[in-house]
Amino acid sequence: MRLRIDIEKTGMKEDRIKIDRDLCNGCGLCVTVCPTGTISLNEGTAVVSGGESLLCGHCEAVCPQQAVRVIAIDEEMSRYATFSAEKTWLPHGKFPVSALVQLMASRRSCRSFLDKPVERAMLEDLIKIGITAPSGTNSQAWTFTVLPTKKAVASLAEQVASYFMRLNATAEKTLLRLFLRLIGKGELDAYYHGYYRKVKEALEEWQGSGKDRLFHGSTAVIVVGSRPGASCPAEDALLATQNILLAAHSMGLGSCLIGYAVAAMKRDPSVQKHIGIPAEEETHAVIALGYPDEIYQRIAGRKNVTPRYFEV
Ligand SMILES: Cc1cc2nc3c(=O)[nH]c(=O)nc-3n(C[C@H](O)[C@H](O)[C@H](O)COP(=O)(O)O)c2cc1C
Ligand code: SF4
Repeated sequence: MRLRIDIEKTGMKEDRIKIDRDLCNGCGLCVTVCPTGTISLNEGTAVVSGGESLLCGHCEAVCPQQAVRVIAIDEEMSRYATFSAEKTWLPHGKFPVSALVQLMASRRSCRSFLDKPVERAMLEDLIKIGITAPSGTNSQAWTFTVLPTKKAVASLAEQVASYFMRLNATAEKTLLRLFLRLIGKGELDAYYHGYYRKVKEALEEWQGSGKDRLFHGSTAVIVVGSRPGASCPAEDALLATQNILLAAHSMGLGSCLIGYAVAAMKRDPSVQKHIGIPAEEETHAVIALGYPDEIYQRIAGRKNVTPRYFEV
């Protein structure tokens, strides 16, 4: 029998969903899960009838006949070089929550790394794991910049340190701080009282003994950013970031978010430019990575949090 694989003609800019009409049994499951009403049943067969699609792949994942294919989905992104991943979908309630919580609580910010490079295949796998995260309207407008060597990390560290040296020099100007505060721009004064001294000490230590208090001697960095146009760029990037942090722990790596580097990259475009990130991209997270040189005996807890309820 000749296979009829038609690219459905739609109002979309490109035709990006293929439905094999010979395989389709008309069960309608793809219609039910589609968030945008893109697919409908026509004479017992699924057809692409809507003009928009998130290209989320729900239709492809739900189809018992393997009759749907979303062209935009790149299978390569689900193939990992350093481990093999199950392709079967894990139903709700089928993963032990105790194991999940143990992993989440065992991830600590690592500030002591071995002088050992992280394999590039691991860094690439981490990014693939990162992008399993959800994103607003499935825009996936995140970007990842990899600094795969200690030398590259040191080069970024120099730029960040130089930014903070300039910031500290400005913050030392008392009259300027007070004037800015008077006109409602209290950020410099807040920085002076909250961070100035700590940063000064770290910079002096770095210049004196070379101790890296910024990246803690990590041997790789992944910078997570966003391209313009995403509906929720920061949320998308940070969800991918948390995936990377958890996966890093699972893969034997330590990680630490470096907020100081994010601040420098946000406020001084030349820092971002130095590592090849275009000006139109926004940086949301800088993740220091490496083989950890620390062992904990137990999981640490958190402060008390009281949820607020709203009920009617
Ligand atoms: C947005 C953000 C920025 C951070 N920036 C830094 C940083 O610049 N340097 C650092 O050593 N740790 C940084 N951290 C790590 C926090 O200090 C750490 O997450 C917190 O103390 C809790 O410890 P844990 O991560 O081990 O659970 C940052 C964490 C977050 C979430
Ligand atoms: S889920 Fe698959 S078999 Fe069911 S209607 Fe959609 S394309 Fe056809």
